[in-house]
Amino acid sequence: MAMSTGWTAAEGLSKMWTSFCIFNVLYCIANAETYNTYYGTPADSKEVAKFQAKNISHICISNFKPCDENEWSRVDGSCNNLENPTHGMYHTPMWRMLPAYYSADYEPRKTKSGKDFPLARYLRLMLMKVGDSISEVFATSLSYFAEFAFGDVGSVHDIRLYLRTITHCCKPEGLTDKRCTPNFIPENDNVHRFSGIKCHNLTRPLSFQSTGCAPTNTVPERINFVTTFFDISNVYYHAAGSIEQNRAYEGGRLKVEVVNGGSFPSDANETTTCFLKDAVATDCARNVPNGLLGTNLFSTYFWRLHNYIADALVLLNPCWDDETVFNNAKDINIAWYKQVLMYEFYPLMLGRENMINNNIIGCDGDFRDPYDKNVDSNLAMEFAYALRWFHSTQDARQEMYDKNDKFINTQAVVNYSLRVQDLAFHDTLLQMTHGIYMQPAGGFDDTVHPDIADSGLGRLAKAFDILTADLARGRYFGLAPYMKYRDYCSDYTISHEKFEDLSYIMKPNKIDELKRVYENPEDIELMAGMWAEDIGENNPIPPTVACILSKQLQRSVASDRHWYERPNRPHAFTADQLQEVRKATLAGMLCAIGDEVSMIQPQAFLRISESNYKVSCDEIPTIDFTYWKDDSCDAY
Ligand SMILES: *[C@@H]1O[C@H](CO)[C@@H](O)[C@H](O)[C@H]1NC(C)=O
Ligand SMILES: *[C@@H]1O[C@H](CO)[C@@H](O)[C@H](O)[C@H]1NC(C)=O
Ligand SMILES: *[C@@H]1O[C@H](CO)[C@@H](O)[C@H](O)[C@H]1NC(C)=O
Ligand SMILES: *[C@@H]1O[C@H](CO)[C@@H](O)[C@H](O)[C@H]1NC(C)=O
Repeated sequence: MAMSTGWTAAEGLSKMWTSFCIFNVLYCIANAETYNTYYGTPADSKEVAKFQAKNISHICISNFKPCDENEWSRVDGSCNNLENPTHGMYHTPMWRMLPAYYSADYEPRKTKSGKDFPLARYLRLMLMKVGDSISEVFATSLSYFAEFAFGDVGSVHDIRLYLRTITHCCKPEGLTDKRCTPNFIPENDNVHRFSGIKCHNLTRPLSFQSTGCAPTNTVPERINFVTTFFDISNVYYHAAGSIEQNRAYEGGRLKVEVVNGGSFPSDANETTTCFLKDAVATDCARNVPNGLLGTNLFSTYFWRLHNYIADALVLLNPCWDDETVFNNAKDINIAWYKQVLMYEFYPLMLGRENMINNNIIGCDGDFRDPYDKNVDSNLAMEFAYALRWFHSTQDARQEMYDKNDKFINTQAVVNYSLRVQDLAFHDTLLQMTHGIYMQPAGGFDDTVHPDIADSGLGRLAKAFDILTADLARGRYFGLAPYMKYRDYCSDYTISHEKFEDLSYIMKPNKIDELKRVYENPEDIELMAGMWAEDIGENNPIPPTVACILSKQLQRSVASDRHWYERPNRPHAFTADQLQEVRKATLAGMLCAIGDEVSMIQPQAFLRISESNYKVSCDEIPTIDFTYWKDDSCDAY
């Protein structure tokens, strides 16, 4: 049934655009709805023409088929909310937990006394120590998964911007280019006083305003290039139209390329296949995700898992057509991911009890219906930002193990940034897959690995400090002062004005460190505050990171009509099927599709220990697909 949502005149106009092509020819939709991405309202032909003339209609305008309330979730996120069909789509603007703080012309705010802030790199040097620390609890799988989970809902197109498009930010012409926001290096820098490097490349974040979609006198809003739902965008909707090219249209599968017996995401075009050339280009993969190592690893895993599920469904239901298998496999794959994300990963970070109390997860495994159509599904700027805190937990040396989990060597993680193709060769994926559960994560503390701090982009840039860039980003995003986030996170029950007001959350020496670099407590920046907060046995991540993540997760769950635990979503699981999905774990996934994984610890985000020792994959619970058997196939 087509859904009428009560738009009137504007809708009539938008219908005039009965066929619309994104990226000119790649991908055309008949009977498209045409919406303004920034406002989330129907766009008329005049508006579309205006953006087309500026060649920005692919960003400012969304096109999608009319909604059908009974259909499966869409890969582009459209029609999840039937009244606001662009909510949660790719190109949805972000929301802010707290109002923006900028100075004039949306330039970064000044300090309380009216000065420019100290250099971001100086603050990083003063607040985070460089070194190689090891987590007592977590495996590297956890840091990688955090990165992947970020990529599902937030995009990192900025990296491409300063690596490929605007490359002069550290040259004299960069000084006068408003798009450039390089990070200058302080005189006494402990590394660069020896290297001679005076500047790290960085560009201003892309926004609806800088792109031309929204008036420049409005608060800059980031453009999110992926859907805001937890739906594995990094597999299913990496780029507009990509899913059409990535489907095999056979057996419900995604296209793969087999290299030395391992299957890898294919970019679906024989002539531009990424894995078959040792691409020097950073974006050799057109339709497959090609980002940081964690994203590349987990995109490959979930790509394979889709086909693993599809193959199981085909075996059970020989009468299903490609479309039916594809939709069911995608739905189960996404549910597997959501189950791991919400019941395995986040409880380790936020605490299971807290999550239950905040209505993020359920406690008994039954169906539950958190959906509220009035909750907006856009993503908080602060959520994407807080996830950057995990950069400091990344052990930038990946230990490689053979198929028997025997140690081979270590590799620089940053050498694999934007080089997804490297996974296909020299058993790299096999050795890393074994590494991610064998090796401890980096310490959850105030240290950062030297590679992350000084060569964060590996072979792609001479020098780059990821944490400095993270801090600087907060300035250009116009994030409110850290103290305001503390007020917000205490639900305004505690007021934070003096440095000492932080003593319940920071050690005295950390407060002293902040005093050394910030004149006034209101100057403290969000990332700097999060770096300084206490971490302990009961709170493995800083309280403000936990607070921001929790607030967004509540909303993400409530705003997703296709949330897998709902009994009344379209194509909902049966009670039996949901009970099977509850068995989904990271360990189960690696047993199913990992290269020669036959033994693994049941809690694969945690280090191997006396209580979490490796067992045979036969002992790891996993989904029994017979609950998806369609008896009508028996008639064939
Ligand atoms: C329009 O934008 C697209 C995507 O950014 C680009 O590939 C194309 O070259 C542009 N066309 C013109 C005429 O500028
Ligand atoms: C593959 O990509 C090339 C270059 O982008 C394009 O010219 C060609 O038409 C594509 N082939 C297929 C089969 O999509
Ligand atoms: C990373 O790449 C660089 C440049 O190719 C190479 O010299 C270095 O040995 C690599 N590091 C590791 C640890 O693999
Ligand atoms: C900045 O980018 C330019 C162009 O890509 C590159 O030549 C230069 O080495 C980069 N600077 C650093 C410090 O990485």
